[in-house]
Amino acid sequence: MTTATAEANPNIAFIKYWGNRDNILRLPVSGSISMNLDGLFTRTSVKFQTSLSADTLIINGNEVTGKGLDRVSYILDIIRGMADIYDHAEVLTENNFPSGAGIASSASAFAALALAGSKAANLDLSEPELSRLARRGSGSASRSIPSGFVEWQMGTTEEDSFSFSIAEPDHWELVDCIAIVSAAHKKTGSTEGHAIAPTSPLQDARVADASRRLDICRNAILNKDFDAFASIVELDSDMMHSVMMTSTPALHYWSPASLAVMSAVRQWRDEGLSACYTVDAGPNIHVICPASDSQMVDKKLREIKGVTNVLVAKAGGAAKTITNSD
Ligand code: DP6
Repeated sequence: MTTATAEANPNIAFIKYWGNRDNILRLPVSGSISMNLDGLFTRTSVKFQTSLSADTLIINGNEVTGKGLDRVSYILDIIRGMADIYDHAEVLTENNFPSGAGIASSASAFAALALAGSKAANLDLSEPELSRLARRGSGSASRSIPSGFVEWQMGTTEEDSFSFSIAEPDHWELVDCIAIVSAAHKKTGSTEGHAIAPTSPLQDARVADASRRLDICRNAILNKDFDAFASIVELDSDMMHSVMMTSTPALHYWSPASLAVMSAVRQWRDEGLSACYTVDAGPNIHVICPASDSQMVDKKLREIKGVTNVLVAKAGGAAKTITNSD
């Protein structure tokens, strides 16, 4: 059987995915928009072997069993069904960014797994098919399949809930400066968070307004209009965190240093610097700015008490196959 190796970038959402209408199929309650993060990646190799009695998973040199393996086997089961094969697989995966760096690795991990796994099974899936497959492992992974600036359309069924590129990476020289304020793993993961999103009285209002925010963000990206982009990105992040903070149980991801960074970014913008923030399900702050301002933003972020590191990434390309050999 073939060994296939693939690489995928994580991504940062500008319009967030929070809440599913189907938690098993990961069909979201609204669309989302993101940018792939160049230079950061997960590299995954998959080999189906008749001799194996179960799937095996090695992440960064450590064997993983239990829930982590089950989530991978779930995707391998879908691939086995599509390819009509019964062999178990050996999955080797590595992130080139530290797992404690506060960057969610599930997006790059499941995008790389969908591509490597399907190639190892000799399937030649289209980009929408790969995006749908990655989505079943982690919703945001559907957005790490296409290139550059990406939109995940919520779709009406399982078949049309996939992501596509709205602009290539070189369309707009935007940079994500990730201010690391904590390297700790989050207490409540996104999967549990999506499941309790409907318990917030604010979620319905957030979802009802989603297509308006998507339109504004998409147009701002296409027109490279940073002011319009900055206001909608911060609004969307704040709306998602309002839902998180008012769900049952309540999810509070920000630390005092997170608030210090957000407040500094708003002040810099008032002073004329083009920068805005967005925050995922954790305390680290993604500061988005034009590449021309990134050195200044990087320097200013490092001066804030509680910021322990800053990672800088420009827009990245599509998930790609690295090798495919017998
Ligand atoms: C806050 O894709 O990590 O980062 O489908 O359960 O794996 P699962 O959730 P995940 O959720 C991402 C949540 C977010 C916002 C976003 O990336 O859109």
